[in-house]
Amino acid sequence: MYFKKIAFAVIFLSAAAFSLAQTKTTVKSPNKNIELNFWLNDKGAPMYSVSYKSREVLLPSAMGFELKQTMSNEALPALKDNLVVTSSTQTSSNTKWKPVWGDVKEISDNYSQLKVSLSQKGDKAISFNIIFKVFDDGVGFRYEFPEQKNLAHFIVSEEKTEFHLAGDHKAFWIPGDFDSNEFNPNVTKLSEVNGEDPKYAANIFAHQFFDKDAVQTPLMLKTNDGLYINIHEAALVNYPAMNLHIDKSNFNLSSVLVPDALGNKAYLQAPAKTPWRTIIISDKATDMLASHTILNLNDPSVIKDPSWIKPTKYVGVWWEMHVGKATWDYAGSQNATSFDAAGLKPTGKHGANTANVKRYIDFAAKHGFAGVLVEGWNTGWEDWFGQYKENVFDFVTPYPDFDVKGLHKYAASKNVKLIMHHETSASVTNYERQMDTAYRFMKANGYDAVKTGYVGHIIPRGEHHDGQWMVNHYVRVAQKTASYKIMLDAHEPVRPTGLSRTYPNWLACEAARGMEFNAWSEGNRPNHDVILPFTRFMGGPMDYTPGIFQLDLSYWDKNKKETIHTTLAKQLALYVTICSPLQMAADLPESYEKKMDAFQFIKDVAVDWDDSKYLEAEPGEYITVARKAKGSNNWFVGAITNENSRNADVNLDFLDAGKKYTAIIYADAADADYQKNPAAYIISKQVVDSKSVLNLKLAPGGGCAVSIMPVK
Ligand code: NOJ
Ligand code: CA
Repeated sequence: MYFKKIAFAVIFLSAAAFSLAQTKTTVKSPNKNIELNFWLNDKGAPMYSVSYKSREVLLPSAMGFELKQTMSNEALPALKDNLVVTSSTQTSSNTKWKPVWGDVKEISDNYSQLKVSLSQKGDKAISFNIIFKVFDDGVGFRYEFPEQKNLAHFIVSEEKTEFHLAGDHKAFWIPGDFDSNEFNPNVTKLSEVNGEDPKYAANIFAHQFFDKDAVQTPLMLKTNDGLYINIHEAALVNYPAMNLHIDKSNFNLSSVLVPDALGNKAYLQAPAKTPWRTIIISDKATDMLASHTILNLNDPSVIKDPSWIKPTKYVGVWWEMHVGKATWDYAGSQNATSFDAAGLKPTGKHGANTANVKRYIDFAAKHGFAGVLVEGWNTGWEDWFGQYKENVFDFVTPYPDFDVKGLHKYAASKNVKLIMHHETSASVTNYERQMDTAYRFMKANGYDAVKTGYVGHIIPRGEHHDGQWMVNHYVRVAQKTASYKIMLDAHEPVRPTGLSRTYPNWLACEAARGMEFNAWSEGNRPNHDVILPFTRFMGGPMDYTPGIFQLDLSYWDKNKKETIHTTLAKQLALYVTICSPLQMAADLPESYEKKMDAFQFIKDVAVDWDDSKYLEAEPGEYITVARKAKGSNNWFVGAITNENSRNADVNLDFLDAGKKYTAIIYADAADADYQKNPAAYIISKQVVDSKSVLNLKLAPGGGCAVSIMPVK
């Protein structure tokens, strides 16, 4: 066992039912920078506050619940005041663990813990616990409902957790939608958040806003005096996701759980526990990117032998459908009306035909990509979009021009793995019925990775993508795919909360606005990629699908006015700034064949890492990161910027002293510009060592990618 357990317990308070009103219990992080206080106020309401280096991060904030009986729907006495503390225990723990994959090879899990047990008074009293863990870079807390006489199965009608911020901070936010996270992120003061304003909420997949003053997590904040605060959650299992409602009069944020089809929030059975609520804090933006607190709050891997889990770079029959060169459906143009809404004009050519798939397999084999994704291989795509029909897909019936057996053989002969696509069209009960059959079909035909998708309203019951019912579904898929030794990439799921630690076969999720939006919408803004690492990626890796080389989309369709909103060099740098064990080279083989010199970086770059150095960062502005490939001495640097040009001086002091390396620098050309001249790049080579400093020049909307490999 690798664990080095240095945990010890200091139990300083434990007595039968006594009140702690007004007495604060203080817990400090191991390095003493973060201080958490917990107390009951004079109404017996549980309160907490958080400070960082003596600066207020969270002012006194309330906690608790409103509950109902499951059968009668009758309210139970609320767990938010009239409480007593029955015990309070402080412990600490300092261990290390090794992730199956990730940005570093070893993670330290070092925290001080406070566990408080609370109870109502009287015969019908319900009791619950609050557990706080205080790390050097943040706080996590969760509620537990122990097994007890007065609480069996019950409904959470509201969670009453508050995060009372100390001011009108700058916020990096997306609207509090219950179904989609595919928005361009907005940067405004908290007081200016407005999820109904079209300029903040453009998203063709947005379903409904229940609260214009609510935002999704991970919510990234910056205070006027330069403190970075991130609010999210960890280990979201059997519970709905949490949005945050902003009280603009005092900047008190309160939890808004995503409801089910009836408006209830969660159905629980004691013993039960909620996800952890997380507050990551630092005065350095780079520390936010380096935080492992959310992973630390998740349970260790349930997969004992993870040797079959392989971080993967892949290509696929995919972008050609998004740019309108090919179609998902066999009939070609039959489905034109549904795609027109998104700006796609099918040309009548089915992408997933055997000859085309072989072309991608050949390309993958030639250039060292392990996987080939194929979308549109199974029947149903004539009917799938916007029609809310059940049972459109069965996941085992290919179109007549897709030779499952022949392609299995062909891919195997080239040492390439096909990646299966399961678009559920949000007919989730149908998918649950078919899962075993579908995964057996995959294994029988050589597939060991699946990309799932949940486009549309969840049918049949009108659940929300981010509600408890769907949260349980996504976890069930992770568990079931693991039992078949299948790796998972979920599109349109709830945003991740670090569950890839527990289910490391769950390589990536989309759960944000991916590259696809550049193909058929107004596109992703140039600051998108310098915000995502501070928001969406806090919970886990994204299948963003970078690597677009044909940046001018009118090449595919004269009517397309959109461009990709980055330079080509930035497309390369994204392979380093986005940390994911699953990365697609998303463009078509013919786009890469025209620019093989730049494509070399995508061939070389790793997807799993021994170490990561977050060199400089500012949310919405820039990020420069260096990563060391797993089990190798190769380093890769990615630097990206928003719409502004910039210079990044990269000190290579992380290299082994005395060793010589060849640095290949893939940079924006002097006249590059994401709007006017996105494809202009220059590649240069130099010998470097740990004393070298690289001066990288980034164009507006640009970036720079560098590979640094030992001189042979
Ligand atoms: C949306 C997914 O994000 C995208 O990758 C996929 O191609 C389409 N749905 C079709 O399933
Ligand atoms: Ca999507």
